[in-house]
Amino acid sequence: MAGNWKMYKTPAETNAFFEKFRPLVEKSEHCEIVICPPFTSLAAAVEAAQGTRIRAGAQNIAWAKEGAFTGEISGAMIRAAGATHAIVGHSERRQYFGETDETVLKRTQAALESGLTPIVCVGERLEEREGEKTEAKLIDQFQTGIAGLTEAQFARIVIAYEPVWAIGTGKTATPEMAADAHRVIRGQARARFGKEAGEAIRILYGGSVKPDNSRTLMAQPEIDGVLVGGASLDPIGFASIVNF
Ligand code: PGA
Repeated sequence: MAGNWKMYKTPAETNAFFEKFRPLVEKSEHCEIVICPPFTSLAAAVEAAQGTRIRAGAQNIAWAKEGAFTGEISGAMIRAAGATHAIVGHSERRQYFGETDETVLKRTQAALESGLTPIVCVGERLEEREGEKTEAKLIDQFQTGIAGLTEAQFARIVIAYEPVWAIGTGKTATPEMAADAHRVIRGQARARFGKEAGEAIRILYGGSVKPDNSRTLMAQPEIDGVLVGGASLDPIGFASIVNF
């Protein structure tokens, strides 16, 4: 169960969140919990999560180890801040910051090389959904991105299916729509990395997940977890998603 805070919360706001959130998920041993704050609040999140099962993740990661890359943050820096995960290829990165399947693959490999678990995002846009190109789009994103990993690398990633039209819009994919997309992705995984790897890969659903729809989404056997944006900003709401 992952929370993507996007560009919200200072370190002080992060501390206030954890104060309330920690006791609510103290007994939530059925899942892993990851909070992805902005880089500048990563250290605060790590500190506030100490002694709990909650982990912290970055929202992006540079593909280079170091160098003249103004504005980028490396895997080693993220690790040094105490984080364990990194979101890669979020649709907002693709839409506003020129992320492509190629750069997503490079960032995914960089995360793996630094010992972080990448949460790799894929998903179709509205016009692709309406043009019945969802399956083709997911296959294409898999083939040009994730398929470039080795089997050992693939075993260490998490995939997030996030239909772009459902992100921050209040429109959720129906559990059936999400499950269909997850089956497409899992089918690709099986074909490229083998049956076992295809079964084992964790696929999260993301896009307007809220306390009142998380249970029906999670009831789909194909959905292994959720990546939550807006609703992860509220400790009570996110805890109720975690404890679906
Ligand atoms: P949302 O965002 O839950 O606010 O729709 C999901 C995401 O972008 O990861």
